[in-house]
Amino acid sequence: MASTTAELRGRTPHKNKSRNPSQLGSLEQAGLFLKNFLRHPLMLGSAIPSSRYLISRVLDQVEWPQVRTAVEYGPGVGTFTRPILSRLSRNANLLAIELNTDFADLLRSDTADPRLKVAHGSCADVVHWMREHQLGQAEFILSGIPYTVLDPGVRQKILTATRNALCDEGVFVVYQYTRAVLPDLQQVFSRVEDDFEPLNILPARLFFCRK
Ligand SMILES: C[S@@+](CC[C@H](N)C(=O)[O-])C[C@H]1O[C@@H](n2cnc3c(N)ncnc32)[C@H](O)[C@@H]1O
Repeated sequence: MASTTAELRGRTPHKNKSRNPSQLGSLEQAGLFLKNFLRHPLMLGSAIPSSRYLISRVLDQVEWPQVRTAVEYGPGVGTFTRPILSRLSRNANLLAIELNTDFADLLRSDTADPRLKVAHGSCADVVHWMREHQLGQAEFILSGIPYTVLDPGVRQKILTATRNALCDEGVFVVYQYTRAVLPDLQQVFSRVEDDFEPLNILPARLFFCRK
């Protein structure tokens, strides 16, 4: 994956290097997302960012005043990241972990909000990234990464690490296009509730997981 991301970095158009996600218009964000999907279809798993309906369905179910540490896996161009920041308390933090170099660079350049910490790497290392940013266990972890294409060992590693990163009352929310990941979630978490959002390309399955 390292050579893939290095290759991506080399091809980043200059005009995007100096602009952060909040400066990109929604059409430009969609273009950057599509460009990266064409290069790395398995890493992204989708050609189009999540819809506002999916964002609301997930984020409206979170008790934001209770959240001190939020973590997002696979923020992409920040589609969920900005709505999370708009709901997050002033003294809370959001750690966004992104494997793709273009997306991590874009998010990292968004220095306007000190609550946002960006890690460029895999969410399998979530505990390491949380320690690096001196964050306590998370009340909320959101995952938008494509589990079905992952090696089963990596999938297991991510889910086990997530359980360790989550506080006892915390919730881990997964959105996917199929229910294929459900048995893996049920092996690691004692409570898994599901939900569905039709107004998304593709319609999304949601899983709310608790320890
Ligand atoms: C379907 S896109 C979701 C983007 C955005 N969150 C949204 O909802 O529109 C999946 C994202 O996960 C990232 N990703 C894939 N595997 C990852 C991993 N192991 N760790 C962190 N990010 C990963 C991809 O680079 C991509 O940005």
